[in-house]
Amino acid sequence: MDVVTTVEELRAARSELAEPVGLVPTMGYLHEGHLSLVRRARAECAGVAVSIFVNPTQFGPSEDLEAYPRDLPRDLAMLRGEGTDLVWTPTAEVMYPEGYQTWVSVDELTRHLEGERRPGHFRGVTTVVAKLFNGVLPQKAYFGQKDAQQAAVILRMARDLSFPLEVVVCPTVREADGLAMSSRNTYLDREERQAATVLYRALSAGQEAFAAGERQGDRLRGLVAETIAQEPLAELQYVSCADTETLQELETIRDGALLSLGVFVGQTRLIDNFVLGGQDVRFNAQG
Ligand code: PAJ
Repeated sequence: MDVVTTVEELRAARSELAEPVGLVPTMGYLHEGHLSLVRRARAECAGVAVSIFVNPTQFGPSEDLEAYPRDLPRDLAMLRGEGTDLVWTPTAEVMYPEGYQTWVSVDELTRHLEGERRPGHFRGVTTVVAKLFNGVLPQKAYFGQKDAQQAAVILRMARDLSFPLEVVVCPTVREADGLAMSSRNTYLDREERQAATVLYRALSAGQEAFAAGERQGDRLRGLVAETIAQEPLAELQYVSCADTETLQELETIRDGALLSLGVFVGQTRLIDNFVLGGQDVRFNAQG
């Protein structure tokens, strides 16, 4: 497994990879969610590259850039165990050299949900992902449905900017009690960790109501909000039931709609989502 830092080192190592190449972009502190993407890439691609970079431009001034968990030796051991061929660990100086001033931004799709609550976040994400694509030149790139809006925004960017690659969106990996795996779960103390299961319970309540025939967006969003309100340590930031591609709120819900939420558990902000009807395949449709 090659581990490289500079763009020159990356180019040299990339040219040795068997094709097609699959890229899994990450911010490190890897868990089973990340590894599921690496395994999918390993199954579908002859060469597997993973990037690890805690990207400063996607964190707001009051967000957790400094506190974000990091453990490179552990990450590299895990990636070695999955048969990864190449790991790119650029520094901030490699990604954003002196005088840097070029940005990639996706307009409409980033105005809702996470984008509304985290100004500038998606501009940082799309800029760094465009740079990762240009550095690694993968034929396929793997993202998790856990960050559904991010996946939708990257699908849009790849299409709009004609990146010659396929974006693959993979299912959310969960703990046994339903909590979606996330590097940020390490911020939770014992009590909060227990309380955090309310996100999964609230989404499940929404999914069940949908399965039972509920089609009114407001009623479904209300039901999810009520479930969150029952947990004293949790504070709902938003609940959305939207079109998976445009992220516009739906008055009348249809199969394949994206039910998503952002919730504070103590000081920690968690997000999660379900695709209603359970058809994650729809989310993956590329046009
Ligand atoms: P990070 O949070 O490290 O996540 C890297 C990838 O793993 C993302 O595509 C994310 O959706 C996926 N992922 C995280 N938790 C998951 C889970 N429980 N199940 C399945 N997939 C999961 O997302 C980022 O980093 C950054 O924004 C990045 C795209 C790397 C750009 O900096």
